Amino acid sequence: MSNHTHLFIRQATILLPTGEFLLGDVKVQGSQIVEVGANLAVDSAAETVEINAQGLTLLPGVIDPQVHFREPGLEHKEDLFTASCACAKGGVTSFLEMPNTRPLTTNQAALTDKLQRASQKCLVNYGFFIGATGENLEDLLTVNPTCGIKIFMGSMKGPLLVDEETALEPIFAKGDRLIAVHAEDQARINQRRQEFAGISNPAIHSQIQDNQAALSATKLACKLSKKYQRRLHILHLSTGEEAEYLRQEKPDWITAEVTPQHLLLNTSAYETIGTKAQMNPPLRSPQDNQILWQALQDGVIDFIATDHAPHTLEEKAQDYPNSPSGMPGVETSLALMLTQAEQGRCTIAQVSNWMSTAVAKHYKIPNKGAIAPGYDADLVLVDLNTYRPVLAEQLLTKCGWSPFEGWNLTGWAVVTIVGGQVVYDRGQLNTEVRGQALRFETSTN
Ligand code: DOR
Repeated sequence: MSNHTHLFIRQATILLPTGEFLLGDVKVQGSQIVEVGANLAVDSAAETVEINAQGLTLLPGVIDPQVHFREPGLEHKEDLFTASCACAKGGVTSFLEMPNTRPLTTNQAALTDKLQRASQKCLVNYGFFIGATGENLEDLLTVNPTCGIKIFMGSMKGPLLVDEETALEPIFAKGDRLIAVHAEDQARINQRRQEFAGISNPAIHSQIQDNQAALSATKLACKLSKKYQRRLHILHLSTGEEAEYLRQEKPDWITAEVTPQHLLLNTSAYETIGTKAQMNPPLRSPQDNQILWQALQDGVIDFIATDHAPHTLEEKAQDYPNSPSGMPGVETSLALMLTQAEQGRCTIAQVSNWMSTAVAKHYKIPNKGAIAPGYDADLVLVDLNTYRPVLAEQLLTKCGWSPFEGWNLTGWAVVTIVGGQVVYDRGQLNTEVRGQALRFETSTN
């Protein structure tokens, strides 16, 4: 790696780690930020690439801590290349991906295969969860590198469903690696599925997998986490009840996340977009939206994930309950949240904390999530001056649709930088760029 400045970002409105903004420049050498300041001297080295960032805001790249990128095995929905292109366009410079691919990511061989595929195809940085099956305790303790153990307590079929307390307990009891839970009570869901059988209006999904199903699983996960003081992360919190419960009962080793769709969409979306609004855990009421927002503002919810879960339009066009649950998100998440900031709902610094800094902190990803010397140059320049609608034909996700089509948003990524390399620039991808495997500073890794 040369010592010359490779990248010189000029005259950006830079979000500093203090939350303040500086109109200034950022120098990047190789993959790292080396200097941040007003009117930095330009190196004369010929290989310096200059980016004129006048009028644009520079933020740490988004780290999306929950995505389903479908490779291997389900590439007709998405693959690591198309998903990472969508990330680059959305300002997402790192992601943590879930184990419900084919084969399931439940052992070292499957994890190594994913890392290998990602190193060949991914334009942004990557990390992968290991899935718990109830029968792979040893793998959960030994595989490397991983951001953590994923447990589907509900909303899953096959080996990845671990819904009995007797099967959950040994996972919490042994080891100290982060456990991330999809918290829905499968027994309750099964029972309500029978009660509401035969209804094909997708709105019934939110009643079958109701608030109580989510609350009861979240309580069980917290109970086990407290019993063993085990690091727990609650994925995609969706209900006001869970947020109020965590407000009372949240030791510092438990964190929680929320998705933009659980903040911004509610059950009224079934009327307008039908099964595209179907996901697990389901969309809730406007009142749940409100309580989740407040919990995020108050720090009860720690950060934001998209749960990017693409399915083809053909798959989604089936009648409920044959329509699969899940919606894409990496391309729209940052603009959605920055639009909320521009509309006064929160600040830009909060959005950046929720979508980058806090994620790096809680997953213990070193050198990411801030614009400061010594940090990795994973950066996004956004335009907060213009509004553009979400258009299906412009999406890079293989599934080709978004639940937010037609929404007029600001804060779209203009330039995205991964490890000091420009991967997206004003509509153009540089598909030669490759991300790196993320590192996690845990005692077991
Ligand atoms: O809606 C969802 N879809 N929620 C999940 O947790 C899984 C995901 C998928 O993989 O399709």
